Amino acid sequence: MTAARFITLEGGEGVGKSTQLRALAAVLRARGLEVVETREPGGSPGAEAVRDLLLTGVADRWSPRAEALLFAAARADHVGKIIRPALQRGAWVVSDRFIDSSRAYQGMGELTDEDILTLHRIGSSGFLPDRTFVLTLPDVEAESRAQTRDGGDSDRIGGRDRAFHQQVAQAFSRFATMEADRIRAIDASGEAQAVTTRLLQGLDDLLP
Ligand SMILES: Nc1ncnc2c1ncn2[C@@H]1O[C@H](COP(=O)(O)OP(=O)(O)O)[C@@H](O)[C@H]1O
Ligand SMILES: [Mg+2]
Repeated sequence: MTAARFITLEGGEGVGKSTQLRALAAVLRARGLEVVETREPGGSPGAEAVRDLLLTGVADRWSPRAEALLFAAARADHVGKIIRPALQRGAWVVSDRFIDSSRAYQGMGELTDEDILTLHRIGSSGFLPDRTFVLTLPDVEAESRAQTRDGGDSDRIGGRDRAFHQQVAQAFSRFATMEADRIRAIDASGEAQAVTTRLLQGLDDLLP
């Protein structure tokens, strides 16, 4: 029996995280693994309720501090109720966003990266993925993919301005450079199938 693994997909809006999550899960299942597909914010009933609070409503509904705490609370529930139990029974878990999204979106303004990691230590004992893929795509391409999908309707955080999203993308790239053992930047351009192949190459050392 192989060790269960926790894999996360990260990156900005429209880079293909949700598409790749489904594709990656299908390939892993075809290899005989039990796979749990999940997402953040959300993933457990309690955290999905918090997701609604976070992603709907007016732009200034939450202060940056309140928002960061809500994300950390949702994640604590998600880790405790879904992710850890799945790993304990031997399933692989793949999540569409996790802690690195909080670091990139909530840890680059009023709060620092260190603040976000402190909240994660309190909420989830600092629990980290075995591997994280940051999907990278030129801004214009990601915007155009998101636009095709949503027709211009974005959620409370997705609707922030271009400068904010550029800062988020830069933060993700920085994490991949500084934490190369866990976090790999993956080129998300081209056909979805080609991207999935790149992701699988990035799991070579973890796959049975
Ligand atoms: N490799 C790709 N090439 C072209 N379009 C893609 C590709 N991957 C995903 N898409 C499309 O782009 C849009 C955004 O993809 P999605 O997986 O929803 O991104 P994310 O979850 O990162 O926001 C969707 O409409 C999806 O079908
Ligand atoms: Mg998505």
